[in-house]
Amino acid sequence: MSNVAVIGSQWGDEGKGKIVDVLSSEADMVVRFQGGHNAGHTLVIDGVTYKLHLLPSGIVRPGKMSIIGNGVVVDPKALLEEIETVKGQGVDVSEDNLLLAENATLILPVHPALDIAMEEARGAKKIGTTGRGIGLAYEDKVARRGIRVCDLAHSDHLKERIENMLDHHNVLLKGMGAEEMKVTDIYDELMGMADQILSYSGVAWKAIDDADKAGKKILFEGAQGHFLDVDHGTYPFVTSSNTVAAQAAAGAGVGSKKIGYVLGITKAYTTRVGSGPFPTELHDDIGEEIGKKGHEFGTSTGRKRRCGWFDSVLVRQAIKTGGIDGIALTKMDVLDGFDEIKVCVAYDLNGERIDYLPASTVDQANIKPIYETIPGWKDTSQGARSWADIPAAAVKYVRHIEELIEAPVALLSTSPDRDDTILMQDPFRA
Ligand code: GDP
Ligand code: IMO
Ligand code: MG
Repeated sequence: MSNVAVIGSQWGDEGKGKIVDVLSSEADMVVRFQGGHNAGHTLVIDGVTYKLHLLPSGIVRPGKMSIIGNGVVVDPKALLEEIETVKGQGVDVSEDNLLLAENATLILPVHPALDIAMEEARGAKKIGTTGRGIGLAYEDKVARRGIRVCDLAHSDHLKERIENMLDHHNVLLKGMGAEEMKVTDIYDELMGMADQILSYSGVAWKAIDDADKAGKKILFEGAQGHFLDVDHGTYPFVTSSNTVAAQAAAGAGVGSKKIGYVLGITKAYTTRVGSGPFPTELHDDIGEEIGKKGHEFGTSTGRKRRCGWFDSVLVRQAIKTGGIDGIALTKMDVLDGFDEIKVCVAYDLNGERIDYLPASTVDQANIKPIYETIPGWKDTSQGARSWADIPAAAVKYVRHIEELIEAPVALLSTSPDRDDTILMQDPFRA
């Protein structure tokens, strides 16, 4: 296999950015294929931290091509700001190393406005979205009201498209007591950015096809995680795209056989940001301690992440339903020092033992985790770069997880730093 897809196997923030950065040393091209700037991918290289939202994580490596595929929803203002931020950190971003699919859908100011208004209207039942307008932009895409990157090249057509979109949304905004939007405001803002955005735009699927024909290695970078997938996740507490590897084909414009090895990025425990079911969530000191040691605060919104024990039922389900070949187990170091560690191995649903996550929100709220307790370790795994440096009890933990999830651990990550990674199986050569 020459290509690799990096996918979150839990509720996002598993460390996808770090692992994409590690693997991009071998790749020629990195492709984002879904989500938008709701993502926050952190890279730590020689003590310098980079936080990426829309830009593929390969952008920091000179000589690599970064593609924002058609499946991504792109806020043009956020993209230009992010380009400026990373340029300010000394990263080279130009038309030579960044290509934006001309058929990607745009996020316009009406989308975050409605996202926020709708969340407010949901009150206690809010989803806890990032407020970036992701769901609203995807709704418009599916409703065939969306405005795409290529529309920026045709000003009259663009104006018509905005009018068509606002005819719909202004009724909603008015109904919710929010301020209506003016066609000219959105049009003027977009036209002010059009030339810059269009300078990056092009036929992304062709660039990917050319790279493939030339035998280049392609890395597909997923955002969010399996249980935020609109089909496979804890619906309705999900994002509005498919996050599974199969989406890489549709969201980049390649055949499904081109996806290659699917690497599921998996935290050694579990976190979630936003609302929704979380069977192994800890509301005690241990949960607080994990959050503190793991610095579990959102990369995009700064929100505190909810923390809990590793849930092997969830990860196994992600592996089966998402076609994950092997996992990268991250944040092992955060579990250093606990006397004992718990792993969820099944659920109790109304007295019955089940080995999968039921689809119903009601059932998801009622399931109780069934735990196995295993010994912790006092030695440190933090910063380990070889198997030999991992405490024996931590090695046991890894082996046990492999058995429970029915997939191998291909990579182990022991700190935020690029270099603190142990490669057991190279996904590009598996
Ligand atoms: P992503 O959205 O999946 O890319 O993950 P985020 O970047 O949002 O969150 C992961 C956080 O964990 C970031 O702050 C990373 O720097 C950090 N991180 C990644 N791998 C490790 C690891 O092995 N150990 C520790 N302690 N932190 C890690
Ligand atoms: P990365 O790529 C964690 C969550 C939000 C909310 C739900 C819907 O960094 O792993 P949205 O704004 O997408 O409509 O919000 O999805 N969410 C994420 N949680 N990591 C992410 O991305 C997320 N992107 C969205 O918190 O619960
Ligand atoms: Mg993140």
